[in-house]
Amino acid sequence: MLQARTIEIIKSTVPVLEVHGEAITSRFYQLLFTKHPELLNIFNHANQKKGRQQAALANAVYAAAANIDKLEMIIPVVKQIAHKHRSLGVKPEHYPVVGENLLQAIKDVLGDAATGEIINAWAEAYGVIADAFIGVERDMYEAAEQQKGGWEGFRAFVVAEKVEESSVITSFYLKPQDGGPIAEFNPGQYVSVKMEIPGETNTHIRQYSLSDSPGKEHYRISVKKEAGLISPDGIVSVYLHEGVKAGDVLNLSAPAGDFYLDTESAKPAVLISGGVGLTPMVSMLKTAVEKQPEREVTFIHAAINGQTHALKDEVKKVAEVAENISTYFVYEKPLEEDFGYDQTGYIDEAWLRKVLPLNKEAEYYFCGPVPFMQAINHALQELNIKKENIHFEFFGPASDLEKEKVNA
Ligand SMILES: Cc1cc2nc3c(=O)[nH]c(=O)nc-3n(C[C@H](O)[C@H](O)[C@H](O)COP(=O)(O)OP(=O)(O)OC[C@H]3O[C@@H](n4cnc5c(N)ncnc54)[C@H](O)[C@@H]3O)c2cc1C
Ligand code: HEM
Repeated sequence: MLQARTIEIIKSTVPVLEVHGEAITSRFYQLLFTKHPELLNIFNHANQKKGRQQAALANAVYAAAANIDKLEMIIPVVKQIAHKHRSLGVKPEHYPVVGENLLQAIKDVLGDAATGEIINAWAEAYGVIADAFIGVERDMYEAAEQQKGGWEGFRAFVVAEKVEESSVITSFYLKPQDGGPIAEFNPGQYVSVKMEIPGETNTHIRQYSLSDSPGKEHYRISVKKEAGLISPDGIVSVYLHEGVKAGDVLNLSAPAGDFYLDTESAKPAVLISGGVGLTPMVSMLKTAVEKQPEREVTFIHAAINGQTHALKDEVKKVAEVAENISTYFVYEKPLEEDFGYDQTGYIDEAWLRKVLPLNKEAEYYFCGPVPFMQAINHALQELNIKKENIHFEFFGPASDLEKEKVNA
């Protein structure tokens, strides 16, 4: 337990650190990677360059510190981060390394203002926060390994099949090289893929949502090729598209994540996706049809046009067999040859009003590019959807959807 004086110091210095947040975390990562270059194997370099991860870690530390006397309040957030940490392979021994360099960064940026008393208080608080994460992650590591078909760390999977789903999205069907069973997962969860790419000094880990329903002999991921037009090419997605072929091996950690369809709920499910954000939604749709055939599902997908629209036939086929499934496709800029779409332009509140089951309490799930997610979140709020019925996933570090500007 922290002393009252320590809590007081922490709470009064959180706003100061927030002001210097960016400078502290930039300095922190500089120190961390200079002293521990091996950690470049687990951190995402593009997120680093774009400042996304800096903001995420800083905000989480300050949010935790502001709640230091009631950490149980932030357990849901800790769990979401812990899923990501477990999936990446973050271990208890990493925490003191992060703590030491964070404190050093605070000292470097604040200079004399960071008195011994303040530094000691933060060292103690960080220890308490780190213990909360370590405890939650320990349980997650045990569960991932001990479940039927589960495993520890990364396991080798063979690419059984590679299927082009659209001009930009390709699916990979993955089977374990050891021939053993694979763990069940909740529809909406992701796996981390650890890649060794020729010419790259470090390994690169990325998350991919499982796009098929659970209970099969394979996992399927569907990956968008992030070819950079102005910015550099996406390292892993471009290599998966261009360098990986059937028969090659990918290393996967066990499924993770707290964004998934609640199959215990009988409420109608509304699944809204933009672009490659459809991957968890297809898994949810297929699972609902298989496990909850009576459940009402509204599946809405926005794509640029028919060429970039992935898994269209698969979704239509699943929906065809059940009367309680409605699908809607929205094309931003349809091509002349496009057909079978319901709306042109962007999804907006007026159109949602026409297609959503607003007369019933439903669970809403959405995923897509950050501006798309902001628009959907805003529209759902305008439609008075209760916060507890709104669930979403970021395909990058989580940020605040309600802020005007987000680092996209
Ligand atoms: C929970 C979760 C689930 C996900 N599920 C899926 C999924 O199902 N399918 C899918 O395709 N993706 C998914 N993603 C995204 C995926 O993990 C990767 O982020 C994505 O494939 C891009 O990785 P990359 O290595 O190709 O690109 P990176 O090399 O990580 O680059 C990312 C982007 O940043 C740009 N960039 C790189 N360097 C710079 C720079 N210096 N300045 C500015 N811009 C730069 C690149 O052009 C690229 O667009 C998911 C992510 C999460 C967190
Ligand atoms: C109490 C300490 C820590 C806090 C509060 C914290 C917080 C966070 C947050 C908020 C994210 C973003 C989650 C998301 O994707 O939404 C994150 C991701 C991550 N964390 Fe931590 N973290 C801590 C400790 C650590 C440690 C000890 C390591 C290992 C060295 C680590 C490695 C990572 C990595 C690799 C990512 C993903 C980054 C990326 O790929 O861009 N974290 N963490």
